[in-house]
Amino acid sequence: MKGIVVYDSSYGNTRAIGEAIAEGLKASGVEVDLFYVKDVKKLSAKDYDFLVLGSPTKFGTMSFTFKRFLGKVKDDWVNKTFAAFDTENPENIERSQAENKEWSAAEKIAEKLKEKKMNQMLPVLKAVVFGQKGPLKEGEIQRAKAYAKELAAKLK
Ligand SMILES: Cc1cc2nc3c(=O)[nH]c(=O)nc-3n(C[C@H](O)[C@H](O)[C@H](O)COP(=O)(O)O)c2cc1C
Repeated sequence: MKGIVVYDSSYGNTRAIGEAIAEGLKASGVEVDLFYVKDVKKLSAKDYDFLVLGSPTKFGTMSFTFKRFLGKVKDDWVNKTFAAFDTENPENIERSQAENKEWSAAEKIAEKLKEKKMNQMLPVLKAVVFGQKGPLKEGEIQRAKAYAKELAAKLK
């Protein structure tokens, strides 16, 4: 069982969450590679069993770079599993709840992967970040590690 964690990040917050998820998976005995989105040259389902994808939330959706990256998820991924995470501001989470409509990058990623007939392992992780540059809310790194532990349990 081997997975790949791919993140986009402008200021390092989403990277930190991606790193924490990768560490958490490894700590639970799951093999995983971690990549910055622009460093992924090809994404073959021959090399990996599952995807964990994360983007900062920009204008209520994933980053443009991440949207383009999703084009690399081809038919060979059908029926394989994924999880998605993002960073977003607390007001953004409140807005999604109030409007009962998703403004979250992770939810948009999940939507796209389900359209590609992939299976979602867990509800998305929305990590709270303050402002554009951060910091992350206290405890979010721990929450990401706990999320990874839950993922590892699903994978076994
Ligand atoms: C152009 C731009 C648009 C943004 N739009 C949103 C948004 O719609 N909702 C939100 O919660 N945060 C928004 N943010 C804040 C980002 O979520 C925040 O910069 C990001 O989570 C930080 O992650 P990073 O350090 O990995 O880049 C925006 C930031 C930028 C730069």
